[in-house]
Amino acid sequence: MAARHVRRPMNEPPTVPAHIAIIMDGNGRWAKERGLPRREGHRAGAESVRECVEACKQLGVRYLTLYAFSSENWSRPANEVSALMSLLERFLEQKAEEMMKQDVRLKAIGHLERLPEKTRRRLRSAIERTAGNTSMTLVLALSYGSREEITEAARSMVHEAVEGRLTPGDVTPDLVASHLYTADIPDPDLLVRTSGEMRVSNFLLWQISYAEIVIFKKFWPDFAQADLFEAVDEYRRRHRRFGGL
Ligand code: FPP
Repeated sequence: MAARHVRRPMNEPPTVPAHIAIIMDGNGRWAKERGLPRREGHRAGAESVRECVEACKQLGVRYLTLYAFSSENWSRPANEVSALMSLLERFLEQKAEEMMKQDVRLKAIGHLERLPEKTRRRLRSAIERTAGNTSMTLVLALSYGSREEITEAARSMVHEAVEGRLTPGDVTPDLVASHLYTADIPDPDLLVRTSGEMRVSNFLLWQISYAEIVIFKKFWPDFAQADLFEAVDEYRRRHRRFGGL
């Protein structure tokens, strides 16, 4: 294989992924194994979130996107949905100070209008408070579904076309990307999923086109900093070719 065809030369020093996206799966099974209610699995999962943000900060990862609540998760029992919302509210309230100390900016993607008013208020407040931080961006995917995101982007482009601001020739991959929730966020380099499932579950379908995927068998509440470091080591070992030779 000729080295000139490889976008990142083999002898280039290994890099840290600029953007890691995580499907945090297995909270329910973790709780079930211990005879605990599912909400205890989510509570333990929130602890793994804290560890993960710290590990990314240490490594110099610029963006971390966490799939915290999918558009499909609304169909779970009402008590589980409300436990997840309360957990999120508590996380936002307790971690805002920590994010300020760590220079972490918070962002959220998804159909945020569907979130309960209190959750939205806490979210807005943490986003506004951390808006000036620049070391790292933590992106929470909430009430998020990739097909919905792409559909909304298509709808908004059709609106622009109807208003005469867009012609068919203007529609390029860059234009589509600029209409997604993630318009100002680089695509993930690394996608991590826990609990051994080999699925992408309607998460960032457009954005993960070239991401390396690393799957862990363990459940999300057991995911610790060492696992994040392991995923990054695996990413560094992979030979990224972007579809070329
Ligand atoms: C998947 O486990 C996980 C979720 C649906 C929610 C993820 C939420 C957290 C980790 C905690 C709160 C988040 C933040 C950012 C504080 P599952 O319930 O689908 O597990 P199962 O597949 O074993 O049932």
